Amino acid sequence: MTQSKTLKVTPNENGFGAEITGLDLSRPLPADTLEAVKAAFVRHGVVWFPDQPLDHDQLEAFTLQFGGYGHDPYIAALAERPHIVEVRREPDEKATVFGGSWHSDWSFQETPPAATVLHAKVVPPVGGDTLYADGIAAYETLDPALRRTIETLKAVHSAARPYGTKGFYAGEEGRKGMTILPSAEAEKTFAHPLVRTLADGRKTLFINPVYTLGVEGLDATESNAMLGRLFAHMLDERFIYRHSWRPNMLTMWDNRRATHNATGGYDGHLRLMHRTTVAGERPV
Ligand code: SIN
Repeated sequence: MTQSKTLKVTPNENGFGAEITGLDLSRPLPADTLEAVKAAFVRHGVVWFPDQPLDHDQLEAFTLQFGGYGHDPYIAALAERPHIVEVRREPDEKATVFGGSWHSDWSFQETPPAATVLHAKVVPPVGGDTLYADGIAAYETLDPALRRTIETLKAVHSAARPYGTKGFYAGEEGRKGMTILPSAEAEKTFAHPLVRTLADGRKTLFINPVYTLGVEGLDATESNAMLGRLFAHMLDERFIYRHSWRPNMLTMWDNRRATHNATGGYDGHLRLMHRTTVAGERPV
Protein backbone atom coordinates (compact mmCIF):
# COMPACT_ATOMS: atom_id res chain seq x y z
CA MET A 1 0.00 0.00 0.00
CA THR A 2 1.35 3.49 -0.79
CA GLN A 3 2.14 5.81 2.11
CA SER A 4 -0.60 8.27 1.08
CA LYS A 5 -3.17 5.48 1.55
CA THR A 6 -1.96 4.61 5.04
CA LEU A 7 -1.49 8.21 6.25
CA LYS A 8 -3.77 9.01 9.19
CA VAL A 9 -3.99 12.43 10.86
CA THR A 10 -5.64 12.49 14.29
CA PRO A 11 -5.98 16.06 15.58
CA ASN A 12 -6.51 17.09 19.18
CA GLU A 13 -10.08 18.11 19.88
CA ASN A 14 -9.42 21.85 19.50
CA GLY A 15 -7.35 21.34 16.33
CA PHE A 16 -4.03 22.45 17.85
CA GLY A 17 -1.68 19.45 17.60
CA ALA A 18 -2.15 16.22 15.66
CA GLU A 19 -0.74 12.71 15.64
CA ILE A 20 0.30 11.35 12.26
CA THR A 21 0.56 7.60 11.76
CA GLY A 22 0.82 5.20 8.85
CA LEU A 23 4.11 6.58 7.48
CA ASP A 24 7.70 5.40 7.42
CA LEU A 25 9.84 8.50 7.93
CA SER A 26 13.08 6.64 7.34
CA ARG A 27 12.42 6.87 3.59
CA PRO A 28 11.67 9.97 1.46
CA LEU A 29 7.95 10.72 1.48
CA PRO A 30 6.20 10.54 -1.90
CA ALA A 31 5.21 14.00 -3.19
CA ASP A 32 1.49 13.68 -2.43
CA THR A 33 2.18 12.36 1.09
CA LEU A 34 4.66 15.14 1.79
CA GLU A 35 2.06 17.71 0.70
CA ALA A 36 -0.49 16.12 3.05
CA VAL A 37 2.00 16.21 5.95
CA LYS A 38 2.88 19.84 5.22
CA ALA A 39 -0.83 20.73 5.15
CA ALA A 40 -1.39 18.97 8.51
CA PHE A 41 1.63 20.75 9.96
CA VAL A 42 0.34 24.18 8.94
CA ARG A 43 -3.18 23.36 10.04
CA HIS A 44 -2.37 21.89 13.45
CA GLY A 45 0.90 23.67 14.42
CA VAL A 46 2.43 20.65 16.19
CA VAL A 47 2.54 17.19 14.59
CA TRP A 48 4.04 14.02 15.98
CA PHE A 49 4.86 10.67 14.45
CA PRO A 50 5.15 7.77 16.92
CA ASP A 51 7.42 4.75 16.37
CA GLN A 52 9.93 6.22 13.92
CA PRO A 53 13.42 4.88 14.62
CA LEU A 54 15.74 7.19 12.65
CA ASP A 55 19.50 7.48 12.42
CA HIS A 56 21.22 10.84 11.87
CA ASP A 57 21.14 10.58 8.06
CA GLN A 58 17.43 9.81 8.11
CA LEU A 59 16.66 12.66 10.51
CA GLU A 60 18.57 15.07 8.26
CA ALA A 61 16.84 13.75 5.14
CA PHE A 62 13.42 14.07 6.82
CA THR A 63 14.18 17.67 7.83
CA LEU A 64 15.34 18.72 4.37
CA GLN A 65 12.00 17.71 2.84
CA PHE A 66 10.53 20.80 4.56
CA GLY A 67 13.19 23.35 3.58
CA GLY A 68 16.83 24.22 4.21
CA TYR A 69 18.34 24.02 7.68
CA GLY A 70 17.89 26.87 10.12
CA HIS A 71 20.90 28.51 11.72
CA ASP A 72 21.26 27.28 15.33
CA PRO A 73 23.54 29.59 17.36
CA TYR A 74 24.67 29.39 21.00
CA ILE A 75 24.41 25.59 21.40
CA ALA A 76 27.05 23.16 20.19
CA ALA A 77 25.92 20.72 17.51
CA LEU A 78 27.05 17.11 17.36
CA ALA A 79 30.60 16.61 16.09
CA GLU A 80 30.41 15.84 12.33
CA ARG A 81 26.70 16.82 12.29
CA PRO A 82 26.56 20.63 12.25
CA HIS A 83 22.77 20.68 11.91
CA ILE A 84 21.88 18.22 14.70
CA VAL A 85 21.82 19.36 18.31
CA GLU A 86 21.66 16.74 21.02
CA VAL A 87 19.18 17.88 23.67
CA ARG A 88 20.49 15.84 26.54
CA ARG A 89 20.11 15.90 30.31
CA GLU A 90 22.05 13.43 32.41
CA PRO A 91 20.46 11.56 35.36
CA ASP A 92 22.64 13.42 37.88
CA GLU A 93 22.48 16.79 36.15
CA LYS A 94 21.86 19.77 38.42
CA ALA A 95 21.48 22.40 35.69
CA THR A 96 18.05 23.63 34.62
CA VAL A 97 16.11 21.89 31.88
CA PHE A 98 17.21 23.21 28.47
CA GLY A 99 14.34 25.13 26.87
CA GLY A 100 12.49 25.20 30.17
CA SER A 101 10.79 28.59 29.74
CA TRP A 102 8.23 29.70 27.18
CA HIS A 103 9.89 30.59 23.89
CA SER A 104 9.69 30.32 20.12
CA ASP A 105 12.92 29.04 18.63
CA TRP A 106 15.39 31.76 17.70
CA SER A 107 12.70 34.47 17.38
CA PHE A 108 15.52 37.04 17.73
CA GLN A 109 16.83 36.16 14.26
CA GLU A 110 15.94 38.19 11.18
CA THR A 111 14.47 35.00 9.69
CA PRO A 112 13.62 32.68 12.60
CA PRO A 113 13.23 28.98 11.82
CA ALA A 114 9.82 27.97 10.52
CA ALA A 115 9.95 24.58 12.19
CA THR A 116 11.82 22.62 14.82
CA VAL A 117 12.11 18.83 14.57
CA LEU A 118 12.77 16.87 17.76
CA HIS A 119 13.37 13.14 17.72
CA ALA A 120 13.17 11.24 21.01
CA LYS A 121 15.89 8.67 21.67
CA VAL A 122 15.69 8.17 25.45
CA VAL A 123 12.53 9.22 27.28
CA PRO A 124 12.47 9.25 31.08
CA PRO A 125 9.85 7.09 32.82
CA VAL A 126 8.39 10.19 34.50
CA GLY A 127 8.17 13.85 33.46
CA GLY A 128 9.91 15.40 30.46
CA ASP A 129 6.74 16.57 28.67
CA THR A 130 6.87 19.56 26.36
CA LEU A 131 4.13 22.22 26.51
CA TYR A 132 2.97 24.05 23.40
CA ALA A 133 0.87 27.23 23.31
CA ASP A 134 -1.17 28.24 20.27
CA GLY A 135 -0.54 31.86 19.24
CA ILE A 136 -3.37 31.84 16.69
CA ALA A 137 -6.05 30.88 19.21
CA ALA A 138 -4.61 33.43 21.62
CA TYR A 139 -4.76 36.18 18.99
CA GLU A 140 -8.28 35.32 17.88
CA THR A 141 -9.65 35.42 21.44
CA LEU A 142 -8.01 38.69 22.44
CA ASP A 143 -10.16 41.59 23.47
CA PRO A 144 -10.98 43.34 20.10
CA ALA A 145 -9.81 46.75 21.37
CA LEU A 146 -6.44 45.29 22.41
CA ARG A 147 -6.23 43.49 19.06
CA ARG A 148 -6.64 46.82 17.26
CA THR A 149 -4.03 48.45 19.50
CA ILE A 150 -1.36 45.85 18.82
CA GLU A 151 -2.11 45.28 15.13
CA THR A 152 0.71 47.50 13.83
CA LEU A 153 3.16 47.31 16.74
CA LYS A 154 6.59 45.76 16.58
CA ALA A 155 8.22 43.75 19.35
CA VAL A 156 11.95 43.75 20.03
CA HIS A 157 13.59 40.31 20.31
CA SER A 158 17.07 39.40 21.54
CA ALA A 159 18.97 36.33 22.74
CA ALA A 160 20.65 38.37 25.50
CA ARG A 161 18.70 37.04 28.49
CA PRO A 162 19.65 33.39 28.01
CA TYR A 163 22.75 33.55 25.81
CA GLY A 164 24.42 36.94 26.40
CA THR A 165 27.78 37.13 28.15
CA LYS A 166 25.89 38.23 31.27
CA GLY A 167 22.92 36.05 30.49
CA PHE A 168 21.43 33.10 32.32
CA TYR A 169 23.57 30.33 30.81
CA ALA A 170 26.85 32.28 31.21
CA GLY A 171 26.26 32.33 34.96
CA GLU A 172 25.03 28.79 35.48
CA GLU A 173 26.88 25.77 36.85
CA GLY A 174 26.41 22.03 36.59
CA ARG A 175 25.46 21.58 32.93
CA LYS A 176 26.69 18.22 31.65
CA GLY A 177 24.65 16.97 28.72
CA MET A 178 24.92 20.01 26.43
CA THR A 179 27.44 22.71 25.61
CA ILE A 180 25.93 26.20 25.62
CA LEU A 181 27.96 28.94 23.90
CA PRO A 182 27.15 32.37 25.41
CA SER A 183 28.26 35.24 23.17
CA ALA A 184 28.32 39.03 22.87
CA GLU A 185 26.45 38.49 19.55
CA ALA A 186 23.42 37.57 21.61
CA GLU A 187 23.05 41.22 22.71
CA LYS A 188 21.83 42.16 19.22
CA THR A 189 18.15 43.01 18.89
CA PHE A 190 15.70 42.54 16.05
CA ALA A 191 12.17 43.92 15.76
CA HIS A 192 9.33 41.80 14.34
CA PRO A 193 5.59 42.50 13.97
CA LEU A 194 3.91 41.69 17.27
CA VAL A 195 1.04 40.23 15.27
CA ARG A 196 2.42 37.97 12.56
CA THR A 197 0.44 37.18 9.41
CA LEU A 198 0.97 33.62 8.23
CA ALA A 199 1.10 32.47 4.61
CA ASP A 200 -2.56 31.38 4.72
CA GLY A 201 -3.68 34.78 6.04
CA ARG A 202 -4.27 33.73 9.65
CA LYS A 203 -2.78 35.94 12.34
CA THR A 204 -0.86 34.92 15.42
CA LEU A 205 0.80 36.58 18.37
CA PHE A 206 4.55 36.47 17.70
CA ILE A 207 6.10 37.19 21.08
CA ASN A 208 7.53 35.06 23.87
CA PRO A 209 8.77 35.71 27.41
CA VAL A 210 12.36 34.54 26.82
CA TYR A 211 13.35 36.51 23.72
CA THR A 212 10.88 39.41 23.55
CA LEU A 213 12.35 42.33 25.47
CA GLY A 214 9.84 45.07 24.74
CA VAL A 215 7.50 46.83 22.37
CA GLU A 216 8.86 49.50 20.02
CA GLY A 217 7.59 53.01 20.69
CA LEU A 218 6.39 52.31 24.25
CA ASP A 219 8.29 53.31 27.37
CA ALA A 220 9.48 50.52 29.70
CA THR A 221 6.44 50.72 31.99
CA GLU A 222 3.93 50.65 29.13
CA SER A 223 5.85 47.97 27.30
CA ASN A 224 6.12 45.68 30.34
CA ALA A 225 2.42 46.14 31.08
CA MET A 226 1.48 45.36 27.47
CA LEU A 227 3.69 42.26 27.26
CA GLY A 228 2.59 41.08 30.71
CA ARG A 229 -1.05 41.27 29.66
CA LEU A 230 -0.40 39.50 26.36
CA PHE A 231 1.73 36.74 27.90
CA ALA A 232 -0.90 36.08 30.59
CA HIS A 233 -3.50 35.65 27.84
CA MET A 234 -1.46 33.59 25.36
CA LEU A 235 -0.21 31.19 28.03
CA ASP A 236 -3.66 30.55 29.44
CA GLU A 237 -4.26 26.83 29.82
CA ARG A 238 -7.03 26.96 27.15
CA PHE A 239 -4.34 27.39 24.50
CA ILE A 240 -1.83 24.86 25.82
CA TYR A 241 -1.24 21.32 24.65
CA ARG A 242 0.89 19.05 26.88
CA HIS A 243 2.92 16.64 24.78
CA SER A 244 4.17 13.34 26.24
CA TRP A 245 7.02 11.58 24.51
CA ARG A 246 7.80 7.99 23.69
CA PRO A 247 11.12 6.67 22.40
CA ASN A 248 11.44 7.07 18.61
CA MET A 249 8.68 9.66 18.44
CA LEU A 250 9.40 12.53 16.06
CA THR A 251 7.65 15.83 16.75
CA MET A 252 7.72 18.92 14.54
CA TRP A 253 6.35 22.29 15.59
CA ASP A 254 5.66 25.56 13.82
CA ASN A 255 7.68 28.33 15.49
CA ARG A 256 5.73 30.97 13.60
CA ARG A 257 2.65 30.11 15.59
CA ALA A 258 3.55 28.05 18.64
CA THR A 259 5.64 28.81 21.70
CA HIS A 260 6.94 25.89 23.72
CA ASN A 261 8.33 25.06 27.13
CA ALA A 262 10.24 21.91 28.13
CA THR A 263 9.15 20.66 31.55
CA GLY A 264 11.35 18.79 33.98
CA GLY A 265 10.33 16.31 36.66
CA TYR A 266 12.76 13.54 35.67
CA ASP A 267 15.79 14.08 37.89
CA GLY A 268 17.65 10.78 38.21
CA HIS A 269 16.83 9.76 34.61
CA LEU A 270 18.45 10.39 31.25
CA ARG A 271 16.46 12.31 28.60
CA LEU A 272 18.00 12.37 25.12
CA MET A 273 16.62 13.91 21.93
CA HIS A 274 18.03 15.01 18.57
CA ARG A 275 16.96 18.31 17.16
CA THR A 276 17.10 20.09 13.81
CA THR A 277 15.49 23.29 12.56
CA VAL A 278 13.99 24.25 9.21
CA ALA A 279 14.73 27.74 7.88
CA GLY A 280 11.86 30.21 7.84
CA GLU A 281 10.95 33.51 6.28
CA ARG A 282 11.09 37.05 7.64
CA PRO A 283 7.98 37.62 9.79
CA VAL A 284 5.41 40.04 8.34
C1 SIN B 1 13.60 22.96 22.99
O1 SIN B 1 13.25 24.01 23.49
O2 SIN B 1 13.95 22.88 21.81
C2 SIN B 1 13.60 21.69 23.82
C3 SIN B 1 12.26 21.08 23.91
C4 SIN B 1 12.28 19.81 24.73
O3 SIN B 1 13.37 19.33 25.07
O4 SIN B 1 11.22 19.29 25.02
